[in-house]
Amino acid sequence: MSLLHRITVAGRATTIREAAREDLALLIEHYRSLPAEDLRRRFLSTFRPDERFVAAWIDRSEQGGAVLVAVEQTPEGERIVADAGYVPSGEDTAELAMTVAADRRGWLGPFLLDVLVEHARNAGIADLSAEILPNNAGMLALLRSRGCALRPGEDPSVLEVLIGTSGTTPSWPADSPRPRVLVEGSAAAWPGSQMAARAGLSVLACSGPGHGRSHPCPMLTGRTCPLVEEADAVVLAMPAGSPCAEQLLAAHTERDTAAPLLVSNGGHDPDPDRATRWSPLDPLASASESLRQVRAAIDRVAPRASDAARRDHAGVSGGSAAAPARAAR
Ligand SMILES: CC(C)(COP(=O)(O)OP(=O)(O)OC[C@H]1O[C@@H](n2cnc3c(N)ncnc32)[C@H](O)[C@@H]1OP(=O)(O)O)[C@@H](O)C(=O)NCCC(=O)NCCS
Repeated sequence: MSLLHRITVAGRATTIREAAREDLALLIEHYRSLPAEDLRRRFLSTFRPDERFVAAWIDRSEQGGAVLVAVEQTPEGERIVADAGYVPSGEDTAELAMTVAADRRGWLGPFLLDVLVEHARNAGIADLSAEILPNNAGMLALLRSRGCALRPGEDPSVLEVLIGTSGTTPSWPADSPRPRVLVEGSAAAWPGSQMAARAGLSVLACSGPGHGRSHPCPMLTGRTCPLVEEADAVVLAMPAGSPCAEQLLAAHTERDTAAPLLVSNGGHDPDPDRATRWSPLDPLASASESLRQVRAAIDRVAPRASDAARRDHAGVSGGSAAAPARAAR
């Protein structure tokens, strides 16, 4: 078992290391100590981890994943106060899951996540995804602070959130099919999001600057954004007149984003100078009409990308090609 960090906070020494089979009983004890609501947030169900599950979770390290534990020394012996792990779910992606004991919250979650991200980066993983309940405000805040993107899926009761292991945003997973549509704003702000995902397009939604993000938005700091660079279309779906929308629109037009840019907030009229660089998308259009407009914009620039998705998904009803494996549970 390899030691990754030793840190002392509020007089308590905590060691972060890779979990090993000898940690089985301690990890079971840690899960037993968690309130039922925390277990529901971790496992998205009323499942209570048994010995078999915990042994398999620890063994993930033998299958290209990793499980880290935060351990304190107490008068009674060692106590696991947090765990975090990832399991490969695609070519260069892995699914993460983590828990922190209720009496150790406040710094350990963010710290442990950073250690896990570094571990994943060293293992060649570009993005980590997490499946979380929409009311899991703590985990959402944690991932937002690292600059995350959401992947709309079939099940609205679970959010799939991606963070990158390097840089300040995630990137498109290598195996996400084209065309790729980046929504700037919440996924729900573009009516075509879910239909596009069902039709086999890859869709990621990035809330851009703000939203509790501590990592700066690359678009606004003169750097390139991997999500924008590798998108086949960008839909700007933030409220018209909001500072974020204005800043992003200016950044896209200044840098002449190569992919078609569609502005879906009804608040702008393309001025003649900018009209060639972006086009308006009716925010009140139906999902299918909005998707048709985005496809048409992609076709004007790269017809083959759109055709490929249609061909790959001909005859497929429902189910996103980008749906992740439920790897971490
Ligand atoms: C999610 C979890 C790992 C976070 O660890 P933590 O040590 O509690 O992290 P923090 O206390 O620093 O909280 C993380 C952020 O959420 C914020 N936060 C915490 N609870 C919040 C709440 N109820 N509403 C809004 N924000 C909240 C914190 O202020 C912090 O944001 P900041 O960094 O901007 O201050 C921990 O709460 C946990 O184990 N939850 C149960 C299991 C779970 O949900 N796992 C995730 C699914 S895999």
